[in-house]
Amino acid sequence: MGKFQVMDHPLIQHKLTMIRNKDCGTKDFRQIVNEIATLMAFEVSRDMPLEDVDVQTPVAVAHAKQISGKKVAVVPILRAGIGMVDGILDLIPAAKVGHIGMYRDEETLEPHEYFVKLPSDIDQRQVFVVDPMLATGGSAIMAIDALKKRGASSIKFVCLVSAPEGVKALQEAHPDIDIYTAALDEKLSEDGYIIPGLGDAGDRLFGTK
Ligand code: PRP
Ligand code: URA
Repeated sequence: MGKFQVMDHPLIQHKLTMIRNKDCGTKDFRQIVNEIATLMAFEVSRDMPLEDVDVQTPVAVAHAKQISGKKVAVVPILRAGIGMVDGILDLIPAAKVGHIGMYRDEETLEPHEYFVKLPSDIDQRQVFVVDPMLATGGSAIMAIDALKKRGASSIKFVCLVSAPEGVKALQEAHPDIDIYTAALDEKLSEDGYIIPGLGDAGDRLFGTK
């Protein structure tokens, strides 16, 4: 079973509380989502392999380290996942970015895929799938299905708020995936919202309510 980690760093928790507040407007919401994504990227990238390298400083040769291994692809699930991309790129600027378009049918809560565009070498990359919300898990499961179908094998899922139902479903469907979340909330409402959650992440990010 992959790792499941709730990121309890005080800065992450404080910023998450700010965006949960219904009075947090679009501009602040967007900025803080990116800030949390940056802080999460720090931890999500912790197990990146390092290799030894000699570097000439102005004084002497330093026996130092540099990141080796797979290059990174950040893959947001549209729309709301877009809100986390810049924050991750702040730390990993050379990452490539793929996009998976997915929307939930508001009645059935079933996800529907409408767009997939990935780096051509996605099978060679460490993939960070990002979406602020893991509710039923349907969108994340289908997005990871789409990635695996195209050869991706090293995948981590990064979200801000998750529901126990979604975590369970994602772990069952993709037990090899590591899941990182800033909060594990209480439950899902009957209409598929995370309680207490933060509402509709896409609408709050883009001001489309
Ligand atoms: C939201 C959210 C996730 C999905 C989570 O997207 O950003 O992608 O719901 O729900 P699930 O775990 O039950 O699948 P939504 O379908 O509202 O689309 P949007 O990002 O375009 O607003
Ligand atoms: N998608 C959201 O944006 N919010 C929820 O609470 C559940 C799914």
